[in-house]
Amino acid sequence: MAGDTEGLEAVYAASNSAGARAAYDKWAISYDAENIGNGYRLPGIGAAFFARHVQRDEGRFLDAGCGTGLVGEALSILGYKGIVGADISPQMLESAKRLKVYERLFEHDLGQPFPEEDNSFGAVTCFGSLGPGHAPSSCLQEFIRITRPKGRIILNVRPETFVEQGLKAKMDELTASGQWQLVECSPIFRPFLLTEPRLHAQIFVYSVA
Ligand SMILES: C[S@@+](CC[C@H](N)C(=O)[O-])C[C@H]1O[C@@H](n2cnc3c(N)ncnc32)[C@H](O)[C@@H]1O
Repeated sequence: MAGDTEGLEAVYAASNSAGARAAYDKWAISYDAENIGNGYRLPGIGAAFFARHVQRDEGRFLDAGCGTGLVGEALSILGYKGIVGADISPQMLESAKRLKVYERLFEHDLGQPFPEEDNSFGAVTCFGSLGPGHAPSSCLQEFIRITRPKGRIILNVRPETFVEQGLKAKMDELTASGQWQLVECSPIFRPFLLTEPRLHAQIFVYSVA
């Protein structure tokens, strides 16, 4: 039912990755029902941006902070294969597994180096996983390392908090040092159509140098 935001409030109360993992493990079973009931449209809009910038034959794709798999499933419906999902929460990964749209799923803290070679992916997505108490800004450098040159990194931030989180500074630093280039950014929009009127998202599409 629209209006239930208990799970969302719990995850934004988390202050570190261990807290986020515990909160998402607890939320996993009701995550889709609560969010879809609240008009959660970030995965669908994110997948649309992905489809505008990434061809289906561009290789393996990483869904970083894949959660229950809403983004991976949308990409699969759009015809993408070779989707790999990573998330800190074993229970969220368990839900994602049931969709059978990921080539591989693995538990991973985005604050740590990825167990992947340089240039492993044609594109990386990260939707809903860069908010306060979630993945740190250091993961952006890792996204660049594992994405092939000219591959896309498509992510969203929370405009209300991304300056104080240090995310904007990191994004600007990577641009200034020529490691990636901004290709497109969305208007600021509400990820939840039916609740949370003060919560916003903005999608950025980067091309790796
Ligand atoms: C709001 S959900 C978004 C999930 C999915 N992308 C979606 O749009 O439905 C955020 C996800 O980020 C994961 N997460 C939070 N902190 C993380 C971290 N440090 N490393 C990896 N995943 C993290 C959570 O477990 C959760 O599945």
